[in-house]
Amino acid sequence: MTKDIEFYDRMLSLGLARVAEQAALASATLIGRGDEKAADQAAVNAMREQLNLLDIAGVVVIGEGERDEAPMLYIGEEVGTGNGPGVDIALDPLEGTTLTAKDMPNALTVIAMGPRGSMLHAPDVYMDKLAVGPGYPDGVVSLDMSPSERVAALAAARGCKPSDITVCILERPRHEAMIADVRSTGAAIRLITDGDVAGVMHCAEAEKTGIDMYMGTGGAPEGVLAAAALKCMGGQIFTRLVFRNDDERDRATRAGVTDFDRIYTRDEMVTQDVIFAATGVTGGNLLSGIRREPGWVTTETLLMRSKTGSVRRMEYRTPVS
Ligand code: FBP
Repeated sequence: MTKDIEFYDRMLSLGLARVAEQAALASATLIGRGDEKAADQAAVNAMREQLNLLDIAGVVVIGEGERDEAPMLYIGEEVGTGNGPGVDIALDPLEGTTLTAKDMPNALTVIAMGPRGSMLHAPDVYMDKLAVGPGYPDGVVSLDMSPSERVAALAAARGCKPSDITVCILERPRHEAMIADVRSTGAAIRLITDGDVAGVMHCAEAEKTGIDMYMGTGGAPEGVLAAAALKCMGGQIFTRLVFRNDDERDRATRAGVTDFDRIYTRDEMVTQDVIFAATGVTGGNLLSGIRREPGWVTTETLLMRSKTGSVRRMEYRTPVS
């Protein structure tokens, strides 16, 4: 059976980069046009089309939603030619639909691939997230600490003052108390309006992005994608699912979650080596956005393998009519 073929991540990684690139290119003409749905749909169509060209027997484990809500790239959809290794795929064809529609920074196309069973089947609910970059002792911060305690612990580990720390947080009313507590330490806060996969990834390159720690509640699917990115880049992430009602608890049960209070580490969310690709749609600290000039369009893609810790930045220029 083809799915028993070994997951040969080195060969597949370039194919994965193409998938991310094509999804970004498809949304290029929709940047700044105020139409989130159209931008998302274009990216979804392109990502699915490209995935179906890959020689894999893929299953979407983190996707656009459950089958009855998402016609394409839904959880459980089989993708690829079927002639290749059995792989699990986590994706977000457009992480930051509003950022794209408003031409604001850090919209990305994101995809991760690993052997079957390598990634947490996170339900589409919220997730409490806490992330730091590489180089800190294991468990330097924890979800059980208050936001100000996390800042103090990270500053102590870095040997700096709390006011030298910058924390990234999604700007949401639900985060008001967290923001006030972080501010009480003197730490700086980079508030983002959307896009917490990028928010977490920023911690892994703190010198470049200026962000030391990410905290707050966002989508659980995005949490798994962020964990896959950090598994490649280095860094720690701790998460806990957040449920607002019984329907969300039912979703989690259907996804196989048994312990609703469990705290997941990076390697509990992503248990085996994965490959990860992200292409910039709008520009940010990590990746350039899509550049359009007469006759050409250029993208930048981050392509990473956790097995080797390799990080490639690939610029792709292609003619457009
Ligand atoms: P979309 O691009 O899919 O809309 O998601 C953007 C995002 O900001 C995620 O990065 C984040 O995890 C989630 O939405 C936060 O959800 P909410 O907007 O409900 O606070």
